[in-house]
Amino acid sequence: MTIGYAGDTLCPGSIQDVYFDKDRNAWVLSRYVDVAAAFRSASLHPVGPRGVLKLDKLVANNAERLRMRSETTDALAPAILHGWETEIRGLAQQILDDLPTSRPVDLVHQYADPVCKRLASLATNIAETEAESLLVFAAELSAAAAEPFDKSLATKAKAAEVHLRQHFHSGPLALRESGFVALSQTLPRMLANVWLPLIRQPGEWRRLHFEPALTPRAIEELLRYAGLTRILFRMASQSIQFNGAGIHEGDRLILGVSLANRDPAYFRSPDHLDIARRRINHLSFGIGHHSCVGAPLIRMALVTLTYLLVERYHEAALYQDFQWQGGSGFRFPGALCVLLRS
Ligand code: HEM
Repeated sequence: MTIGYAGDTLCPGSIQDVYFDKDRNAWVLSRYVDVAAAFRSASLHPVGPRGVLKLDKLVANNAERLRMRSETTDALAPAILHGWETEIRGLAQQILDDLPTSRPVDLVHQYADPVCKRLASLATNIAETEAESLLVFAAELSAAAAEPFDKSLATKAKAAEVHLRQHFHSGPLALRESGFVALSQTLPRMLANVWLPLIRQPGEWRRLHFEPALTPRAIEELLRYAGLTRILFRMASQSIQFNGAGIHEGDRLILGVSLANRDPAYFRSPDHLDIARRRINHLSFGIGHHSCVGAPLIRMALVTLTYLLVERYHEAALYQDFQWQGGSGFRFPGALCVLLRS
């Protein structure tokens, strides 16, 4: 598996049996069944690229983590999500009303970014002007998450995190500085990733345009096909046999999430985008004990913004090539300059 990024692809490398990568000093998993089993294993714990337990960053122990999960789930109750959805829908509609069809627009900076920023301030309960001033710090954390092997980005991110933390005082831990970064930075990048395949496959865009009720299902397929998370890390707390590999206590593992999402042993025609695909079970939000507790909020935003876009325009034609940004953690188009046709 190629851990760095190469070429214009969301899904580099190849799927193979579990093996030990000497350069990374870690086991590498890329088959769907292996990555899914690693997510479910009680002996494997989320860590950063250098093996520091992730748990320590947000909560001190497992009991606190479970409390954080349950507080976040309560804070994201359907009625609350509905209120935020109404707010972002209004803003998204206003922006779309003003977007020209006579000249190119950048869907990332003109549409995704401002709506995600509004959602970030709503969900973390912080004034929009304050949110604006914090974006530069959030961007530093996001850059480090996008390329987790870069030590200088990690150092900058640490300082930015300390600064950000001072601005978030209330609400569940997951909806403070880390939630702000996820919503203001990660979410627009995820939107860019899921819109790109639709732009490149105008037939699928048009299909959604005429059948926008398919959007929630299409989003699951797009999360599988073009999800943002490429790799995650684990550390073993005890020796285990893992699909023929003897993993020892303290060993590190790299989970190839985007590769597993394209595993032909699990998904029929995995490199084919089929927005009506059923039973998708992608791994883009993790699964099991540590699955993403913010997933309902992210799904709401992905569906709302995509629905409004595809319903209004029957085509978005790429007007200008774009640069890929990010790195081995996640990778995304820096801009999506398109000509919209309604
Ligand atoms: C586009 C944005 C997001 C993406 C791509 C994303 C992705 C993920 C993934 C893949 C995991 C699993 C990590 C692992 O197994 O090692 C995860 C966990 C987590 N996510 Fe998200 N997430 C996003 C937004 C959010 C938001 C907005 C929140 C806050 C509400 C959030 C809170 C969490 C928490 C707290 C965990 C760890 C749960 C645990 O260890 O028990 N995420 N996320």
